[in-house]
Amino acid sequence: MSKKVFVKTFGCQMNVYDSDKIIDALKIIGYEKSENLDSADCFVLNTCHIRDKAKEKVYHEIGRVREVFLNKNKPLVIIAGCVAQAENTEMLKREPYIDLIIGPQSYHKLNETILQFEKNKLKNEITDFDTSEKFNYLSKIQNKRSKVSSFLTIQEGCDKFCHFCVVPYTRGPEYSRPFNQIIDEANLLVQNGSKEIILLGQNVNAYNYKVANKELRLSDLIMSLEKINGIERIRYTTSHPRDMTKDLLDCYKNSKKLMPFVHLPIQSGSDKILKLMNRKHKVQEYISIFNYLREINDKIEFSSDFIVGYPGEETEDFENTIRLIDTVKFINSYSFIFSARPGTKASKLKIIDDDISKQRLKIIQEKLFGYQKSKNKSFENKYIDVLVENEIKRQNKLFGRNEYMNSVIFEGNKNLIGKIVQVRVTETNQNTLFGELSKKNKFKAA
Ligand code: SAM
Ligand code: SF4
Ligand code: F3S
Repeated sequence: MSKKVFVKTFGCQMNVYDSDKIIDALKIIGYEKSENLDSADCFVLNTCHIRDKAKEKVYHEIGRVREVFLNKNKPLVIIAGCVAQAENTEMLKREPYIDLIIGPQSYHKLNETILQFEKNKLKNEITDFDTSEKFNYLSKIQNKRSKVSSFLTIQEGCDKFCHFCVVPYTRGPEYSRPFNQIIDEANLLVQNGSKEIILLGQNVNAYNYKVANKELRLSDLIMSLEKINGIERIRYTTSHPRDMTKDLLDCYKNSKKLMPFVHLPIQSGSDKILKLMNRKHKVQEYISIFNYLREINDKIEFSSDFIVGYPGEETEDFENTIRLIDTVKFINSYSFIFSARPGTKASKLKIIDDDISKQRLKIIQEKLFGYQKSKNKSFENKYIDVLVENEIKRQNKLFGRNEYMNSVIFEGNKNLIGKIVQVRVTETNQNTLFGELSKKNKFKAA
């Protein structure tokens, strides 16, 4: 009888992608994916270290697992992801319930580590940066997972060292996967039924793969994916303003499949704060990217990430951020209060008053949500193209996304899953568009 693995994932899309790969790898040594923790023989917690309380969250989760297995044999407990990388042996010392620690660039060693543990019960910690070997190993594991929209990691790590961020320490240096390995994976995803590919990287537009004296960039990947029959939509995340090169910008003119929705984190609308953050770009450069894209493609919309309450942020700096939001009118964004992360340069700086940060977060979110709601409202009574992803069984409705990643819910037959259909939007709120299937549907996908 096969053993069961239950994987719980925190953090960004790259962790979601990794968790699927972990499940694929564990199949080889006899573990099947389980949807329930209480029947699991192995529990993998894929962790995120980006903001505070990351460590505490892990210990809290372990506490829950311990409760579930109180009167039973404990499962094999593995901590993976960015907290594992950052804390490594500390966690094994503090929490005896944990058996193995494995960092994000060592997943190719997971199976042999588990097999070793099953033999000798010796706790182990693996946190080397072997990104190239990892992808060589994982890309050989074929799967039949069928998803309409699939993540595909093309690049890992970061060399930018923004002063607030742990990613360069938890994911290591920038690494770009071989071009053909990515195209092969995209073809496999299409064979399994994917219609949308979301290219992933901590710095996805820093992608740079050299072959025969030629530098292949994100733009080359997009234009190659464009040619694959079956791919209907292409997206990428997360990008950095410094790597928004002209070739990439021009894809918004040259590609029919690249969605006109750009998630481009800026963090602050103040040059002073950007400098203190070591972001290496200015506000005006960001606005120029936005203006150029709007000029070549009038459907373009932006979303971003913002940090408020960064050490040194004064009222004027915050007002500049609000001004930038009024200029770009982001349609969907993430905003956070600065969180001092161990080992980063900003962790040594003087924190600003917490009440001021909370107040700024409230103001910025009201502003961002306002633009988000009004963009959503602008879809009312209009026809939009929706890629149908799945069925919401409880409601007997279909779920899909429009070009701007908005969730769209409407009634329809489940044989529409995987197709792009026209929906008339009848009602909207901050997060979702509700609608009805257009009678004049011309299906774009077979
Ligand atoms: N690579 C992306 C970039 O260059 O902006 C972002 C990666 S990070 C996983 C996602 C977001 O988390 C960042 O854009 C930033 O807004 C936020 N973040 C990162 N470190 C943070 C910190 N120490 N405190 C608050 N927010 C943070
Ligand atoms: Fe972190 Fe992004 Fe800055 Fe890299 S570029 S250090 S991932 S915020
Ligand atoms: Fe978190 Fe690591 Fe992603 S810190 S945001 S899981 S790269």
